[in-house]
This record gives sequence, structure tokens and C-alpha cells, in this order.
Amino acid sequence: MKKLQFLALFLLLSGLETSAQVFDASIEKKIDVLLKKMTLKEKIGQMNQLSADDMETNYKVIQQGMAGSVLSITNPEIANKAQKIAVEQTRLGIPLIIGRDVIHGFKTIFPIPLGQAASFNPDLVENAARIAAIEASETGIRWTFAPMIDIARDPRWGRIAESCGEDPYLTSVMGVAMVKGFQGKNLSDPTSIAACAKHFAGYGAAEGGRDYNTTNITERQFRNTYLVPFEEAVKKADLATIMTAFNANDGIPSSGNEFLLKQMLRKEWNFKGFVVSDWASITEMVDHGFCTDNKEAAQKAINAGVDMEMVSGTYVAFVESLLKEKKINIETINDAVRNILRIKFKLGLFENPYVKGNTEAVFYKKEHLETAQKTAEESVVLLKNEAQILPLKNPKTIAVFGPLADAPHDQLGTWVFDGDKNHSVTPLQALKDQYGKNIKILYEPILKYSRDKDSTEFYKARKIAKEADVVLLFVGEESILSGEAHSLSNLNLQGVQSQLLATLAKTKTPIITVVLAGRPLTIEKEVKGSNAVLYAWHPGTMGGPALVNLLFGKANPSAKLPITFPKNVGQIPMYYSHLKTGRPANGSELNVENIPIEASQTSLGNKSYYLDSGNEPLFAFGFGLSYTTFEYGKTTLAKSVLKQDETIEISFSLKNTGNYDGAEVVQLYMRDIAGSIALPVKELKAFKRVELKAGESKNVKVDLKISDLVFYGIDMKKKVEAGKFDLWVGSSSVTGEKVSFEVQ
Ligand code: BGC
Repeated sequence: MKKLQFLALFLLLSGLETSAQVFDASIEKKIDVLLKKMTLKEKIGQMNQLSADDMETNYKVIQQGMAGSVLSITNPEIANKAQKIAVEQTRLGIPLIIGRDVIHGFKTIFPIPLGQAASFNPDLVENAARIAAIEASETGIRWTFAPMIDIARDPRWGRIAESCGEDPYLTSVMGVAMVKGFQGKNLSDPTSIAACAKHFAGYGAAEGGRDYNTTNITERQFRNTYLVPFEEAVKKADLATIMTAFNANDGIPSSGNEFLLKQMLRKEWNFKGFVVSDWASITEMVDHGFCTDNKEAAQKAINAGVDMEMVSGTYVAFVESLLKEKKINIETINDAVRNILRIKFKLGLFENPYVKGNTEAVFYKKEHLETAQKTAEESVVLLKNEAQILPLKNPKTIAVFGPLADAPHDQLGTWVFDGDKNHSVTPLQALKDQYGKNIKILYEPILKYSRDKDSTEFYKARKIAKEADVVLLFVGEESILSGEAHSLSNLNLQGVQSQLLATLAKTKTPIITVVLAGRPLTIEKEVKGSNAVLYAWHPGTMGGPALVNLLFGKANPSAKLPITFPKNVGQIPMYYSHLKTGRPANGSELNVENIPIEASQTSLGNKSYYLDSGNEPLFAFGFGLSYTTFEYGKTTLAKSVLKQDETIEISFSLKNTGNYDGAEVVQLYMRDIAGSIALPVKELKAFKRVELKAGESKNVKVDLKISDLVFYGIDMKKKVEAGKFDLWVGSSSVTGEKVSFEVQ
């Protein structure tokens, strides 16, 4: 008997391990009772999401029981009115779920997600999402279409701004943090909003970085790279919803992809939430050439497992006839409705459909702004600091130039629908507020916006720069140049910003360049031409004070790049965890500058290499400087031969050898030397933020379970393969001493 009890407990616990989607028997009972009462029409209604564009029409549709959700209501009175109709004027009184794109803040805007990922600080990121949820939920929003956890390795793709960058591990950690922040401790808390991981799946791998373009990801790449953050969000954060992607992978649009939606999501991961299409991604399956008409599109989406349709209305139009024609099955409809109702019950919408709408007390609260500022401080990456010019040391006169020094709208970044630029504190404003009394600040934008090509005021810039001790130049890209459908084929600074920098460089006044952008830009020559460079992404509402604190050393940069910075567009795709190839470059390659004339075909050696720009990026993944310096001691492993169920204990000393207190993001990379398939040259497996006072030293321990080294090998099974491994602990993906171990 005891043995049986033990077995049951073991099964329960191991079940929890494989799927942490919280199961609530009482909710399942309520769903069954409700589902039995529902007519087919009412079921179809639950699967339909309306857009808030025309609320007068929507009220009627809601009253007829033909809507389960409305997207983008942001006014609490309208939310309550719509909800009242659903709850009091429909037969079964099923509440609506109101969704909105709350991507990096609702009113208080945090750095773009790519910037947040640069913090390598999941606690801070979770807190940012929590605040976004607190502000949004006060208006009746109980569902956000975030986080976007697409692996993004092509900076031409404008949506890279919304991503956590190129790495599956970092994206997983950040994605889990965001889901936890949005959803709170319990979904039924009125400040909790259901998260929606998107876009499922592979959307970030669009050919050429052109948005919505085709992808060609193999099943193994899906499993080993692109799906990893989704699986983690489902299993580690009890993710409530998932959105299908726009792209067709290997010819199959995501909203009709049974492998992704059935095999992976439901069967292998046991996902219990609901799946929503992207905006009209169901009818776009006709444009893809995957369906002949909208009716077939509805059929394919339903059969693939898309539970709710965002705005395109094909479910309402065709489900009844598709059922009659036996092209879809009533059980599939019942399952979809169950999934939707489950989240509505979990959110407590049946008990608590209305919102107080006490927005004034909640929006832009002091502690929200403080967290936004801290998040921005921790997201800005110091790329160069020649002769320790930063932090600034008592300058008497500062010249401030550039189109982004005082651009309250653009510093907010892409996907900001609700944040108000009047609340933005710009770098110029913050500089004046904090130092205006003691430092002479000479400000001229010179260029009105990032694309401005008018250089007629350059003479002014030269004149002013000569009078100053230091130049602060704020360049980059406007927020509209990144985000959805904003792909670029050229990643140089827009307009004549580079020329402005070159002009200023002639004055010999030191130049600190601050780049505000939604993506990595190809800034090799601007980095050379500047004495220091801070990469600030689009830092949000409190970007100004954060940057001023960093410039003056009230805060010390600690962020690291969540994405490789290529030297030029031709190097893309460029990511640190690439495969080695059979002919890796070894550093002895010749290049276009020094190839002898009429060299013979094979005289250069045959290596996988760009003759004109090499294989080195401008800045590597994980790179980022501090005002202080850190010294890593020798890496020791507690054991060098380990079994599959063991944990590898890694320890080393870390010393702050500089003059400033600071935080170092310690990164642990691994390489599986030989497997049943070729594996990446390095993979991030863990990281840790370590705070150290100037001169302080700590012994740092990082534990890594051998079971975390799993991957899908030749037989498409997830397991660790025995063999030899290399490991590096360091401050970026290109540093660290190599140590080796073996797994038996
Ligand atoms: C985007 C989604 C977004 C949706 C709703 C689509 O165009 O791809 O990411 O959530 O619109 O606004």
C-alpha cells in the first residue's frame, strides 16, 4: 500500500515536472456545466474576437452572444459597458476577455524588450511586466499580446525590437519572467493579465529579415532553437495563451500548422490555455495560396487547433456549414471553447467582470517611473569608453546635439499605443534638471529627426562643439523605423547623422555618442569616430534620467548585448551559436586588402570566410563594458567526469579591480564537442548578475544540471548525449578560459 502511495506521489510529481500548467478540477466542472448549456452559435461566439474600432456595432454583436473577446478597448467605461452587455444581456452571461498589445509598458513605458533583455536581469524584467499589468488592468484589459519570444537573428527585421534577441536560453529566461510579471501570482487577481506568447512559430526567421516573409526551419531547428522559449513559458510560467504567427514555414502557414499546434503544443507540452490567431492570419492563408477561400481557411485553422480568431470573422461565417459538411468536428469546437472558458474562469472574470477604472491613482505612479528608470539604466550597453572618458568628470560646458536628444515620442520605441510622450523625460530635459545650474549646456539638435538630410546647420555644430569640454551626440533611429512591417535593408545611421559625427570629430572636442534605436545598427565607423558609445535602444519614458545617471556615473553600466552586432548587412545572419562548418576560419585568412594579384585558386586556403569583412562581428553577443573592471579567477569544476543525473558545480573568484562599484553579468557557455548531429560552437547555459564594490572579491558558484544539456539529436529524441564538453565562464560570448568535462 505504502509503495502504491509512493508511486502515485512520484507520478504526480513527475507529471508536474513535465507540465506545470495548473489544473483546477473545480474549473473543469464549471466548464462542463456551462458547455452543456451552450448552443452551437454561442460556442462560435466565444471563438470570435472583435476589434474595438466600431464599438456601436460591437455592442450589438456582443448582445447576440457572438463575441468572446474584444481587442483594444482601453477606456474603463467602454470596457464596463461592453462587459455589462455580455454579462447581463446574453443568455448565459459569459464575460468578455479584453485584450491589448501591452508590449513594454502600458502608460509607463519601459525600454523595448530587446533593451530589457540586455539587462540580463529577469527580476527587473518581471517587475516591469507586473507594473504594465497593474496599469493596463485598471482599464479593463485582462489579456496582453506579449511576450514576443521569437528568436530574432536578423536586425533587418523591424520586429527584432520586440524580441529578446538571438538566444534561446536568454529568451526563455526573459519570456518566463515577462509571463510571470503579467500573470502575477494568481490569474484571478484583478491586476493579473493573461499573457500571450507569440508568434508561434518561427516568425523571426523571415528570409532576408523582410517582415511576414517565408521561413524554412527544420523540425530539429524548431525543437532545438525556435520552440524552446515557448515550451519554457508553457511549463515554467503556466502561460495562458499563445498566438499563431503570420509566416508560412516550409510552405505551411502557422495558423494551419498541425505539427506546431497539435503535436508540439498540445500533445508534447500539454498546453491547457487557448490559441488565438494573429490579426487576420486565418484569411491570409488564402493570400499565402494555402487555401482557396476563407471557408477553407476557417476549416484548416480549426482543424489545426486555432481556438480563437482575431478579427477576420471566418469562424462566425463558416463553422456551422463546415460542421454540416463534416469538414470539422463538434469535439474540436468543444475543445476550443473549453480552452477559452478555462482562461476566463482562471481570470476570475465570471465573479469579477467589471473594473473600477481608478486610472489616475495607478498610471505613472512614482514607483512605476522609478522602476522604468532602473530598467533603462540596466539596459543601456556601454560599447566603448576610450581613456575612461565616462563617467563625465566635472565638465564646465557640454554641447548636446542630435535628433534624439530631445525626442519624447521616439525614445518610447515601437508598439506604444497608450504611453503618452508628454510624460517622457528626454536626455536633454534630465540634463537640464540635474545639472543645468552648474554646467553650461549648449543644445542644438542640428538635425530635426533621424532621417533628416539637411546639413545646413553643421557649421553651428562645429562652432558650439569648439566651445564645449565634451559633446553628447544623440543619434539613432526614430521609433517608427522599427517594429512590425518596418524592415530595412540598410542598417547604417539614417540621413546625415554620420556626417554630423564626422564634422564634430574634426573639432577635437571629445565625443560621447548615445545611440537610441530599435535594433543593432551598423555603426563601425561611428564607433571609431567617438570617444565613448552608449547603446540605449529605445529606453522608454524615463530614458533621459537613466542616461544622465549613466553619463555622470550615478549608475554604472552593466548591460550586455542580447544580440550580435554585425559590421555590415552582408554578414547577416550572424549569431554566436552558429555551427562550426567543416572549414572554419582560423584567423590566418587573407582579405581583399592583401590577396596577391593573380593568386592561384587554392592559395588562400579554403575557409568559410568573408574576404571583405571577415567573420568577426562589430560586437559579440554578451558584450558590454562597465566603468569598473572585473577579473575572473581560475574556473574549477567540482568533478570532471559526471553522470547524466548529476549537477556540474562550477566555481571561480570574481574581483572588481577598478574604482567603481559595479555589477558583472557572468556568462556560462558550453560546447558539446561531438554529437549525433553537429552542435553550435557555443551555447549560453546560465548567467548570473554579481554585484561587487570597488576592490571587492567574491567566490562565485554556478550550478548546471547535466540534464540541461539536452537536445534533439539524430533520432529526434530529447536527451543528453554522453561525451566530451568544453565550458567557458566569462564576460561575453568571446571571453573566458576553456575547461573541459565529460558526461558518461
Ligand atoms: C501583430 C501582433 C499583434 C496583433 C494585434 C498583429 O499585426 O503581428 O503581434 O498582437 O497585431 O494588435
